[in-house]
Order: sequence, then structure tokens, then C-alpha cells
Amino acid sequence: MPAVVVVGAQWGDEGKGRVVDWLAREAQLVARFNGGDNAGHTVVAQGHTLKLHLVPSGVLYPTLTCLIGAGVVVNPAQLVAEMDELAALGIDVGPSRLKLSAAAHIILPTHRALDGARDAARGRGAIGTTKRGIGPTYADKAARVNLRAGEMTNPEHFAERVAEAVRAHNRRLQEQYGMEPLSPEQAAADYCAYAQRLAPHLTDGSALVGEVLDAGEMVLCEAAQGLLLDLDHGTYPYVTSSSTVAGGALTGLGFGPRHVSRVIGIAKAYTTRVGAGPFPTELLDEVGDRIREVGGEYGTTTGRPRRCGWLDLVILRYAARINGLDEFALTKLDVLSGLERLKVAVAYERDGERTEHFPAEFGVEALAQWKPVYEELPGWAEDISGVRSRGDLPPAAREYVARIEEWVGVPVTFIGVGPEREQKIC
Ligand code: IMP
Repeated sequence: MPAVVVVGAQWGDEGKGRVVDWLAREAQLVARFNGGDNAGHTVVAQGHTLKLHLVPSGVLYPTLTCLIGAGVVVNPAQLVAEMDELAALGIDVGPSRLKLSAAAHIILPTHRALDGARDAARGRGAIGTTKRGIGPTYADKAARVNLRAGEMTNPEHFAERVAEAVRAHNRRLQEQYGMEPLSPEQAAADYCAYAQRLAPHLTDGSALVGEVLDAGEMVLCEAAQGLLLDLDHGTYPYVTSSSTVAGGALTGLGFGPRHVSRVIGIAKAYTTRVGAGPFPTELLDEVGDRIREVGGEYGTTTGRPRRCGWLDLVILRYAARINGLDEFALTKLDVLSGLERLKVAVAYERDGERTEHFPAEFGVEALAQWKPVYEELPGWAEDISGVRSRGDLPPAAREYVARIEEWVGVPVTFIGVGPEREQKIC
């Protein structure tokens, strides 16, 4: 059994956790490959709703191992809090089940402070980051000055290095942004305790992935965020700071492309985005408001209302190309029930010129010149939340899914029709 990669095909929040939860039943290892606690997914365990940001979605299956890979940036305070919450519900998050790659990078409190200060200083050009320190941590990683998880094997030395990094960040906080410094001593004490707690979980992540693949078992690679937030291929600079695409699984976990057997793109039946930046099919009217309310479109991490719009097939085509998608999982189809007419963007137009390719590389000003070309499709009035086979969907819903497959050229193999685990067609 090989590597299966699950990625977001839009701007994140597509419901990847849900699909990973479904696929995890066949996996030996579920491995997160990018991002940090900017991501969020909701898990229901023993009747409790948990919001997880770092622990991979497969944690509820007792037989599999979870890995936080080298490509992830880890806020240890958040990781320890999630472990405590899960353990309190009797879920095993011990060192043999939950592994942390020694090459993952560490988020410090000053990274978070710098994130907030830097985004505020952008003024009207603010990205609207989650303020979790993601950008500054990846920047320090690229500058080769950041701390890695592996340093936690020596908690005292790790604590000294934390204090040193906090002092360096403090100079920037004070001089560049006029902010109060954070206490290096406090950070050192906190991070020493996190190191003692997390050191037993450290592992050589790529060796673990290699072992599982060599044993013929399945590795399920879980992305955070989505294609258009990818640092290279998204709507730069309104992106996150990691590789959110299928290629990120290879670099973020450390294995080669020949092991990948299946790449699944998760797409909502409509489009959402949190934070600033272009969004061609955005709906700033009552239809957008309705989708937000019916779909519960509020951020898991920040609680911010998500911007909502029609499905954009130009984006899904781009997702198919960049990720080499084999299939789509289409989530939240039920949210569209009751809308009389549905629109989907099939192309973009600019001064009489038409394109079917998402024009990402020339930047957001160029992208803003393109307007979506819509096709209208009939809606359906029926409640589809109880439907369990594609043939039982109302004809208009069947047509909606079939047209996506036809226009994008990728089959839809999973359809979400409600928030519960069993509310799916696959
Ligand atoms: P950062 O990742 O916190 O630096 O935020 C950069 C951009 O990515 C902002 O627009 C965020 O709203 C967005 N973003 C980050 N993580 C997520 C996510 O999990 N879902 C949706 N948007 C996200």
C-alpha cells in the first residue's frame, strides 16, 4: 500500500479532516506535512467536539500512528494542550502513537507577536493572517536561524536557545514596531517544560514514513490550507508560508514521488476564503450570507466569518493540474439545497480575451482584471442530507456533480451531504 495525498483545492477549509477521517481507516500512518496551528479541524470524540490544530485527523483510530512531519511549524503550547484534551477523553496520545519529526520547526511567542505586528504594519495591504506566528517562523527557517524540534532532546540547552531567539526577536519588536518585549526567562522556562514533555515523541519522521511504505502499508499525507494559499502557486502575497500542494507532501515528509498512488483534492461545492486577497466568484449579497449561515462558514482557528462565493471551476482545473489530482472529494453539497439557480465559473474574461487557466503567476493586480464567466445550473429544493447513493440525489444535484467532472476532467469519488461522519456518498 502506498502514499495517498489529501490536499485542499481552494483556499482551505474544504473539509480535509473529514475526508482524512474516512480514509484513515485503511492507513497505518497519518502524517501532516505543512502549516501549523493556523489550520483547524473539528473532531467529535465521545460526544465532545474538539478543535484540533496540530494533531492529525486520524487520531481517533486507535490502531494507527500519527506523525507531525518536518514541513510543519509547531507551537508546543498548542500541541501539549491538544494532547491533554485528547488524553482526558481517554484517547491514546502517548509517544508510540503520536510522533513529532525532529526536523519540524518551533514557533516561539515572539514569532506570534511579530506576525501580528507585521500584518498590522501592512495597513490596508494586511494579509489577515491567523497571527499564529506562521510567517515569521518559516522566515526564520529559510534564514537558517530557527530552532527545530530535535533540539528538545536537551531541554536545558533548548531553553537557552529559546531565550536567545526571544532576545533577538525582542529587538525587532521594539525597534521596528515599538512593541513591548516578551520575557526571555519566562519563554525559556515554558519551553523547557514543553521539551521535557515532547522529547519522547520525537522521531526521524522521514525514516518512519519510509519504514511504513517499505512494509507495504498506507501512509495518508494530510495537507493544511489549500492550493490558493500555497506560497509558490497561490494568490501571493495573500497566501500562507508553506507548500500546501501535493508536492509539499514529498518535501514536508521526505519521500519520493514513485510512492504516491492517489492524490485527492478536497473542494467545497462552493468557494470560501478567510482573510484578504482576490476572490473572483465572491458573493457580497444575500446569497453569500445564506451560504455562510447554512454552511456555518466561520473560521475554526479565528472565528472570523468566511467570505463565500460560487464554485469556481477555473480554480478546480488549476488544482487538478498543480496537484496531479486523481479524484475530487466534494464537500457540503447539502448547503446549496434550496437555492433556485446555481452559478459556476467556467472561465475568466478580460477585454474580450477568455481563459480557462487560473492566472496566478502574474500577481493579484493582474488577477483582478479577470472576471468570471458563469454558467447557470438549476438548483434543487430537496433536503439531501439523508441521501447515501449518487443515484438517489435529485436530478439537478446529480447534474451539478456531473458537470464538475465533465468541465474539470476529474471524477468526484466522495460527496459530503451533512456534517455527521455517515453523511456522505462514496
Ligand atoms: P497565516 O497562515 O496565519 O500566515 O495566514 C495567511 C493567510 O492564510 C490568511 O489569509 C489566513 O486567513 C489564511 N489561512 C491560514 N490558515 C488557514 C486555514 O486553515 N484555513 C483558511 N485560511 C487559512
